[in-house]
Amino acid sequence: MPIVSDQEYLSLKEASEWATNYTKKRITTSNILYLVQYGRIKKHGENGTIYVSQKELENYYKTFIEKRQIEWKKQLGEDLNWALSFEQFKESETTKHVHRLHPYKGKFIPQLVEYFLDSHTDSFKNEIFFQKGDLVLDPFCGSGTTLVQANELGMHAIGVDVSAFNALISNCKVQKYDLFKLQKQIDDITKILKEFIYRTNIIDFENELQEQLTKYNNQYFPVPEYKYKIRQKQINEEKYGKEKERDFLKIYLSLIQKYKVQLKNEKQTNFLDKWYIPHIRKEIEVVFNAIKDVEDTNNKKILSVILSRTIRSCRATTHADLATLKEPVITTYYCSKHGKICKPLFSILKWWLTYTKDTIKRLQEFDKLRTNTFQICLTGDSREIDLYEELKKRNHPLADIIKEKKISGIFSSPPYVGLIDYHEQHAYAYDLFGFERKDELEIGPLFKGQGKEARDSYVEGVAQVLLNCKKYLADDYNVFLVANDKYNLYPLIAEKAGMKIINQYKRPVLNRTEKDKGAYSEIIFHLKEK
Ligand SMILES: C[S@@+](CC[C@H](N)C(=O)[O-])C[C@H]1O[C@@H](n2cnc3c(N)ncnc32)[C@H](O)[C@@H]1O
Repeated sequence: MPIVSDQEYLSLKEASEWATNYTKKRITTSNILYLVQYGRIKKHGENGTIYVSQKELENYYKTFIEKRQIEWKKQLGEDLNWALSFEQFKESETTKHVHRLHPYKGKFIPQLVEYFLDSHTDSFKNEIFFQKGDLVLDPFCGSGTTLVQANELGMHAIGVDVSAFNALISNCKVQKYDLFKLQKQIDDITKILKEFIYRTNIIDFENELQEQLTKYNNQYFPVPEYKYKIRQKQINEEKYGKEKERDFLKIYLSLIQKYKVQLKNEKQTNFLDKWYIPHIRKEIEVVFNAIKDVEDTNNKKILSVILSRTIRSCRATTHADLATLKEPVITTYYCSKHGKICKPLFSILKWWLTYTKDTIKRLQEFDKLRTNTFQICLTGDSREIDLYEELKKRNHPLADIIKEKKISGIFSSPPYVGLIDYHEQHAYAYDLFGFERKDELEIGPLFKGQGKEARDSYVEGVAQVLLNCKKYLADDYNVFLVANDKYNLYPLIAEKAGMKIINQYKRPVLNRTEKDKGAYSEIIFHLKEK
């Protein structure tokens, strides 16, 4: 171990203990290793043992954590309630069990729902709003976070979403499955997929491409030196990346020729044609047809969700642009996220295997926590849906519960004005499954913008939803709405819905997307009958 100046060097284990103590948050050795691999701190040590400098580590945490709180309060106001950031929770906890069955842009974290639904009190929440056995409503159900947490807490819940695919995800999360049978169906489908792949030359092509890529990346993008040099500005990433991208393209194109791999679909009429190379398109079809043959409806649905998650990861885009598709990328490219040359995908097999395994694991985890309660997400427009009639039509036990005992309250996050197109974010799934799209019924979609007209119709829309829901709410209901109200629309919405805002909790939103880490807060409005 080199002794350099007065710096103290720590092994990964020591560093993780030191950092845990310093940040009061559990920091694992892999968290430290991540910092090293991504060039945030430098690697020291010889003979394969990694050491890090305590000073450098301390600087890192000072800059990224302590400063953040001060900076954010400066920007967003001193009334920011840092306890509601839930920063002590690791990502694996905020995406626990079924919450990560399928990506969905715009969900809230389960800990936030739990905070308001459960029976604890603290200096901010000095009252208990919901009890076990209560019925909770989420009229903007999204991917079903409220439903899942209600179940965990022993509460019944109804969700409504205008997007059929979102309702599918939500219902799949709360559904109980015969996991043994599901595993068998997965194995059968995997076998069909593998047999299809083995009849093509795509594996040989990918193996050779991978071999070349590994050689090239090891030579020109060594880990972790390359990233460290970028952070230290010793390399101009853009220039260097472009140069190497061009260089490797020659190798890539010669392999494409050698194996006669087709890169584009002849017709480009829908999302699937545009975003999937022909071979992947065929694999998707093979799996989809196999799912169609599954008899059990519930298993068929969860298998469809796995397929959807799989194909989402296989769109012909760069790793950095997965969330915001630009143009299809069908060649190798310099990837700023991974700091090396990456390649597009040529098979869905890897992701299918990963996600089938992951889904079973998540369903098992949730099985251990679930209570004997009822949850369902209905597909419809919350401004006008007749909850009782819809539940009766589906012969659901909640039809009786809603009649006998009214809904205790709402926990929901309406869309924010002009931020997300909720149908469009799952365009691949609508194309594949042929669900009817109802984009024009979305409240506050991105495609309508944030202008005056859009804001007015947003106010009307959310107020109408609340008025419609009120028909089913108990007299002393509690309504909690999570919103980023940058246009100050909620006082008017409350007024129009005959409600009053009795409290506002302002929470910082951490861990947003990679690209978007700026100061950001949202408000949880607590409303009651006027
Ligand atoms: C912010 S998201 C909710 C996310 C959810 N809290 C979660 O954790 O997944 C808002 C949802 O409202 C839905 N929505 C928009 N307009 C609607 C309407 N008129 N009726 C019902 N749902 C609507 C969107 O499809 C979207 O899924």
